[in-house]
Amino acid sequence: MINEYPLAQSSWGAEEKQAIQRVLSSGRFTMGSEVEKFESQLSDFHKTKHAIMVNSGSSANLIAATALTFHQEGSPCIGVKRGYVIAPAVSWSTTYFPFSQLGYKIKLVDVDESFNIDVSKVKKYIDKDCRGIITVNTLGVPAQNNKLKAIADKYKIFLFEDNCESFGAKLNKKLCGTFGHTGTLSFFFSHHLQTMEGGAILTDNDDIANLCRSLRAHGWARDGDYKSLIKEVATDEFYDQFKFVLPGYAVRPLEMSGAIGQSQLKKWPNQLKGRLNNAKIFQELCSKKSYIQPQKEIGESSWFGFGGLFSLGRQERLKLWKFLLSKGVESRPIISGNFFNQPVSKYLDIEKLDKLVNADKIDESGMFFGNQEKDLSQEIEYLFKNLDAFFKP
Ligand SMILES: Cc1ncc(COP(=O)(O)O)c(C=O)c1O
Repeated sequence: MINEYPLAQSSWGAEEKQAIQRVLSSGRFTMGSEVEKFESQLSDFHKTKHAIMVNSGSSANLIAATALTFHQEGSPCIGVKRGYVIAPAVSWSTTYFPFSQLGYKIKLVDVDESFNIDVSKVKKYIDKDCRGIITVNTLGVPAQNNKLKAIADKYKIFLFEDNCESFGAKLNKKLCGTFGHTGTLSFFFSHHLQTMEGGAILTDNDDIANLCRSLRAHGWARDGDYKSLIKEVATDEFYDQFKFVLPGYAVRPLEMSGAIGQSQLKKWPNQLKGRLNNAKIFQELCSKKSYIQPQKEIGESSWFGFGGLFSLGRQERLKLWKFLLSKGVESRPIISGNFFNQPVSKYLDIEKLDKLVNADKIDESGMFFGNQEKDLSQEIEYLFKNLDAFFKP
């Protein structure tokens, strides 16, 4: 009999351990051929021209945001005040931080029932100071990225797609992470592909890809087609190996993560199948219950987890969380609720454009439960048995 339901579990098997062993035997531990192979598999999978791996999804966001800024402005000025970006009020901290660090003001709009940015509200807030739109595919569910890309193109601003929670999700048969000028991925433990730590940037733009490759490795000109980064043609190949062209970072991935990523990607079709089966069970049970309003699916979700709003206030939700925990069921807030309410806001140039009604609902009464490739039918039934007990009239 099932008596627990964890938020996340390892999806590793013997293949991942063998991948680690392969790297150990090679004696090369930092970014090299294993990472390169995984990058090439990721770009084939997504049908993008480039995939650039880094050491986390947060680093992917940092590098992508910096590359988009340099690409848009034609020069890597740092420490300057910039225009603003429009962002959904519900996302992870490191979706926003790179933009603040780069000098942008962040203007938040509300989310809709899919927990993603409400597209109908974006256009009216774009003026001459708007530099880009941030879209986040929450918990496996695509935002309306096709519409957002059309808006970004119309106003000649960038679309930054944070796809750290939605590997493998599709909108109109197109994979998420490929709608923005850049798309980012995370391979952290609880995510669809697990490489210990890890992340990647997807792009079709050669210049942005070159910027990303330089920015992830100290700002040097060694990786990629660096001649597009340095205006004067390199003459001294000896010296050029240590030529620094951008104010970069050191966020290179490890070879182990690259090797593990290859094994994880091979398992993806099966993993998705399992996640979809679990989702069907969750959705069916939700449709019979009045106490939960599940996240609305747009396109084809890859079901990171199962999110919903409960008919509860903040205090009752705390009781529900404790009750479920006492029964072995783990749950957590939907990303981090309405990000504007986070204490860190006081350090950011951030404002609400909207009333953020739905973001506040998520903040007060949202919760999510785990998903993985393993058959969770019994765990999900166990969850609903306990929810029924909590909500019994
Ligand atoms: C939407 C979103 N963006 C970025 C990240 C950061 O990814 P990482 O933990 O790999 O740094 C996360 C982490 O869960 C996330 O949910």
